[in-house]
This record gives sequence, C-alpha cells and structure tokens, in this order.
Amino acid sequence: MAKDILTQENFTKLNEIILEHKEAPGALMPILHEAQGLFGALPLEVQKKVSEELNIPLAEIYGVVTFYSQFSLVPKGDYIIGVCLGTACYVKGAQRLIDRISSELEVEVGTTSANGKYTLEATRCIGACGLAPVLTVNEDVYGRLVEADIPGILDKYRG
Ligand code: FES
Repeated sequence: MAKDILTQENFTKLNEIILEHKEAPGALMPILHEAQGLFGALPLEVQKKVSEELNIPLAEIYGVVTFYSQFSLVPKGDYIIGVCLGTACYVKGAQRLIDRISSELEVEVGTTSANGKYTLEATRCIGACGLAPVLTVNEDVYGRLVEADIPGILDKYRG
C-alpha cells in the first residue's frame, strides 16, 4: 500500500506554510515547493487547500503542478528508477530494459508500485550517451546494459 500522506498533521503544517508565505508576492511557487516536500506529492486535496487559501483557481494551480517536473501528483517511491529513452539509449535497446523492469517490479512506466517502493520513469538524455543504454536508481548510474543485467541491479534495491 502507498503511504497515507493526507494526514491531519500534514494539513496543519500546510496551514502554517501557507500563512508564512501568503502575503508575499509570488507566494504560490514557494508554497507548492514546501508542500511537495511535506506530502511527497501534490494530490488534488492539497491543491484545493492552496487554491482556497490563496484565492487562486484550482485549474491554474493544477496547470503549474503538471507543468513543472519538480512537482508530482502522486508520491514517488523510495527508489526512483529512470531509464533513458534518448536516441542513443533507445537504439541500443532501452525499451527492452523498461519492459523488463516493469514486469519484474510490477510497475507501469510513469507510476509507483503498489508497495510504494519503486517509481519507474522514462527520461530524456542524461548526457551519458557513451554508456548507452543507461539507467539510474536514485543517485546510482548503470550503463552499457543488456536486459539480462536488470535482475542483478534490481536485487540491490529489494528487501
Ligand atoms: S541518450 Fe541516453 S544518455 Fe544520452
């Protein structure tokens, strides 16, 4: 189960964050940024609260949240697995890596596994084309991969 992030305690802290920034010009971005850190995501319930308190239409807030990649509607997992789908990686079989990870961890691309542990993302070129195909797990980088490397890599992040 994904962790419950919409706790009363978090909403109380959100109130404090809003109060702190409310009167400042351009308050929306810092509030969303801190709220993302607090909840680990910006689900609609959080956006609604910010919308009411700042008197900014929900549609506008939703637009901001979905535009910037630093914000996320759903919580990310403990391990964020990014498989590069840039050209160099793609032609060297990155899609096969994604498919294998997806089936090993039972997680679709762009989502977080049901146990809240893994988020699987397809990324753009990360500038390591010489190592194509490349994947990252949080800060760790793996390159020159073939599909058969995947189980061994994932084993490091299990348990
Ligand atoms: S295309 Fe994957 S690192 Fe550049």
